[in-house]
Amino acid sequence: MNICKHLAIIMDGNGRWAKAQGKPRTSGHLVGSDNVRTIAIAADEMGIKYLTLYAFSTENWKRTADEVNYIMKLPAFFFKKYMQEFLDRGFRMRIIGELDMLPKATQKVLRDAEEESKDNHGLSLNICMNYGSRREILLAAKKYAQDVVDGKATLDIEEEDFDQYMMTKDFPPVDLLIRTSGEQRISNYLLWQIAYAELEFVPESWPEFTPEVLKRCLDEYQNRDRRFGGVKNV
Ligand code: FPP
Repeated sequence: MNICKHLAIIMDGNGRWAKAQGKPRTSGHLVGSDNVRTIAIAADEMGIKYLTLYAFSTENWKRTADEVNYIMKLPAFFFKKYMQEFLDRGFRMRIIGELDMLPKATQKVLRDAEEESKDNHGLSLNICMNYGSRREILLAAKKYAQDVVDGKATLDIEEEDFDQYMMTKDFPPVDLLIRTSGEQRISNYLLWQIAYAELEFVPESWPEFTPEVLKRCLDEYQNRDRRFGGVKNV
């Protein structure tokens, strides 16, 4: 039986979902952020321990200023509405990405959510904001190189040790990566962490991604034959 400890999701399709209903793209992001709560609770109830969500990529700055500004305000709306419930459920919030490039108010909301929940041991709800995987790997390599220069590390390094330079160093590898809305690409997400993950691309947009769809994905994951490069059943 495959245990899905760490689930990562690329929450795609908010904009198209909103447009299809004749609404502005931002309303899709609002419904999408409410769905983060629904799916975090469902994932916790289905036994997931780490849920890592792609909320804003290093490439998303290319969107219109209005859309970017709106997404930057979402964490404040989100935590105001749901933080108490998350704390009651023992969730621990972690923010992954280069936060110093975000508006100061957004940084504060995100940091406060981390701080307020840091002693919790329930679901680790990890939100990637201004995150890009190649940049994460580059920053890790720079930090490692600096440690070598400073005599704190040697060239003799194993993968597990290099993992400690990643922004996700506290998390186990991703078991399952889901992308919503039909696109079949990784978009610079968790490239190091998904080395042996199972991948699922579902047609539903993120606002349509219900707990039932999550259950379907986890059932499908159960049927995958994970071999991690080895051989089984011979
Ligand atoms: C991708 O859909 C979605 C985003 C870039 C933003 C996702 C953000 C959220 C779901 C809210 C985040 C929540 C918190 C708590 C910070 P898209 O707009 O690219 O969809 P499209 O492909 O249809 O245009």
